[in-house]
Amino acid sequence: MNVFLGLLLLLAFTKSSSAIYCLCKDGIGEKELQTAIDYACGTLADCNPIHDKAPCYQPNTIKSHCDWAVNSYFQNAAQVPGSCNFSGTATTNPNPPSNLGTGCIFPSSPSSSTRSPPSTTPPTGTTPSNGTTPSN
Ligand SMILES: *[C@@H]1O[C@H](CO)[C@@H](O)[C@H](O)[C@H]1NC(C)=O
Ligand SMILES: *[C@@H]1O[C@H](CO)[C@@H](O)[C@H](O)[C@H]1NC(C)=O
Repeated sequence: MNVFLGLLLLLAFTKSSSAIYCLCKDGIGEKELQTAIDYACGTLADCNPIHDKAPCYQPNTIKSHCDWAVNSYFQNAAQVPGSCNFSGTATTNPNPPSNLGTGCIFPSSPSSSTRSPPSTTPPTGTTPSNGTTPSN
């Protein structure tokens, strides 16, 4: 942990807090990109914008979705050095992708708004419990 913290501080000093993005590298296999997407979306990234019909769904390529996923992860990880790596499939970049769809804006800083309403969670009590007592 000390080594990690030292590295963190070192990089925090060398890198200023200007806009920085995390993008998937070119020339990475789709399987690796998908792994990065799955990991990012399963942890810190907000991947709703790359779902079907969402602003960042287009261009509908694994590379483009990977860019969104790792960047969202990276920003939500507060740009901690090392959080833009994904086993070497991603790296930091001073610019966002140039081919973004309309309305798709890559965040370049940690979003302070932690508004992620669990909209898909149904209200409790809608399912009538019908003899939930296990009979074993
Ligand atoms: C990124 O991940 C690879 C593979 O796990 C590792 O070898 C490399 O040192 C990492 N790079 C950074 C900057 O953490
Ligand atoms: C209650 O459970 C029984 C047996 O599983 C089922 O046949 C019945 O349709 C259920 N009733 C409701 C209201 O879910």
